[in-house]
Amino acid sequence: MRIDIVTIFPDFFGVLDVSLLGRARRERLLELGVHDLRDWTHDRHRTVDDTPYGGGAGMVMRPEPWGEALDALLPEGEDADAVVVFPTPAGVPFTQALARELASERRIVFACGRYEGIDARVAEHAATRARVLEVSLGDYVLNGGEVAAMAMIEAIGRLVPGVVGNPESLVEESHEAGLLEHPSYTKPQVWRGHEVPEVLRSGNHAAIAAWRHEQALERTRRVRPDLLPPEVETR
Ligand code: ADE
Repeated sequence: MRIDIVTIFPDFFGVLDVSLLGRARRERLLELGVHDLRDWTHDRHRTVDDTPYGGGAGMVMRPEPWGEALDALLPEGEDADAVVVFPTPAGVPFTQALARELASERRIVFACGRYEGIDARVAEHAATRARVLEVSLGDYVLNGGEVAAMAMIEAIGRLVPGVVGNPESLVEESHEAGLLEHPSYTKPQVWRGHEVPEVLRSGNHAAIAAWRHEQALERTRRVRPDLLPPEVETR
């Protein structure tokens, strides 16, 4: 998979050199390109924003540098199967299901806006070249799309085959089975007076699986009842 990121803060993405995704990049499982939007400006001040039509507070990102950036990264007639993701609080919610879907793509471009957003014609035009998704990380406002893109890239990247060493560890985690994950424990058996639940030390695999499922269900009911289908929720 190849991921390109267009941003006015390319330094933000230095952290993608470390940890699991850093290794995935070195092993060429994941190709990542970070591009400075200002490289596609032509004025002395490398201007990327302007005042909004219709008035209002804040600045809007001008379409021209974005147009040139997307022309360079997705030349017309090529990469018709690419996906362009615009992180925005006005987008569809980012979920594990969407992460899984995007992990099977060949090419994704993240267009990270700042200020009050990007001129709406950019997404409209990008849709003539590629599949466009406006995606929100959650119901809160960040200063721009960079942190959201980073979170999405981590969630997507770890689902690319080979990135996580043991693929079984992806199966049991939160949101994969529609439930939050059960709690986990390691040694020592007693720590500061808190004991590891006895069932986990029993060696009875069926009992352990049943306990974990019950814990997952209980935790989901308690903190995220919205994740449960109505018939389970009322039981
Ligand atoms: N940009 C600003 N806030 C955002 C959010 N909640 N999700 C995605 N992109 C954003």
